[in-house]
Amino acid sequence: MDGEFLIDGSRKTLFVGLVCVDILNLLPKYPKEDIGHRCIDYYKQRGGNASNSSTVFSLLGGNVEFFGTIADDTELSFIQRDFEKFGINFKNSIIKSNKTCPLSIVILSLESHTRTILHTNKDLPELTLHDFANSINLKSSEYGWIHFEGRDNAHEISSMLNYVNEFKKAHGVGIYTSLEAEKLRFAPYLDELDMWKLPDIMFVSKDFACEQGYTSMEQAVSIYHKKVKAGAVVICAWGDIGAAAMSDQSGLVTSPAFPPSEILDTCGAGDTFIGATLFALAKGQALQKAIMFGCKVAGSKCGVQGFQNLA
Ligand code: ADP
Ligand code: FRU
Repeated sequence: MDGEFLIDGSRKTLFVGLVCVDILNLLPKYPKEDIGHRCIDYYKQRGGNASNSSTVFSLLGGNVEFFGTIADDTELSFIQRDFEKFGINFKNSIIKSNKTCPLSIVILSLESHTRTILHTNKDLPELTLHDFANSINLKSSEYGWIHFEGRDNAHEISSMLNYVNEFKKAHGVGIYTSLEAEKLRFAPYLDELDMWKLPDIMFVSKDFACEQGYTSMEQAVSIYHKKVKAGAVVICAWGDIGAAAMSDQSGLVTSPAFPPSEILDTCGAGDTFIGATLFALAKGQALQKAIMFGCKVAGSKCGVQGFQNLA
């Protein structure tokens, strides 16, 4: 064991964020506007960043729970059955009545290897600190790691992270935390609420870093590392290049990408990377080995439809 993080396998990793329904359409190339197109295939699956990462974590054999809001509409039973199929505990999730399940239509292009996501959330409310504090029993020592997906409820996420940090301080309990910054609209909150300083691990996506003007994963992690708390880690996945990470202990470490023989579906590659990297870190792997494992599993995910049969 040479890593910076290790949790007892009996303790759960909790993924906090979105669950929605994805309809994926596989096309030979990205469609032209205002004409009809024949798709090669389509499939429906449970989606959402935290939900996808929990799927991967469970497929790898991890002890996992998902926590989010779920609409009480016709998709509820599909989502519940799918969580059960993948062995994911969602017992504390909050069912919201008279709300509509968020939906994504995803266009997968075989030619350009892109995944274009058209996401609609009509009215499903985001989680609040009140939901978290009332549903997640930190005293039970059940949870070894809590991962938060950065979403529009930034103030609430910041409060939830502060709540966990204060609990850790008051009770001397070891719970690691991580936070994902994927969408640029989350950026102002990170600065305004000083959220960079809250988690033990900060995942920053390539899209987020590029929109902030960074041109390489090495440059991105080096600069973002200056913003996080002492001893914390920054990890940045960078599409078909791989991933980079930086911590005081490891310095800058990188991994190449591991492309499959054919790229079929890159939707959720970043979520897969997070699920697999956290799984490796929680097993006590060193940072470089953990991001390499993340890249291997994420690369393998790009070669399959959905999340089944990850090598
Ligand atoms: P996101 O899904 O958030 O856009 P990325 O595109 O950065 O995430 O991909 C996350 C990880 O998935 C990368 O670090 C890499 O390991 C893997 N990956 C993504 N696209 C490819 C690809 N075309 N070939 C090989 N691996 C890929
Ligand atoms: C992939 C994903 C999809 C979902 C969308 C939400 O990263 O989580 O499963 O539809 O992003 O933004």
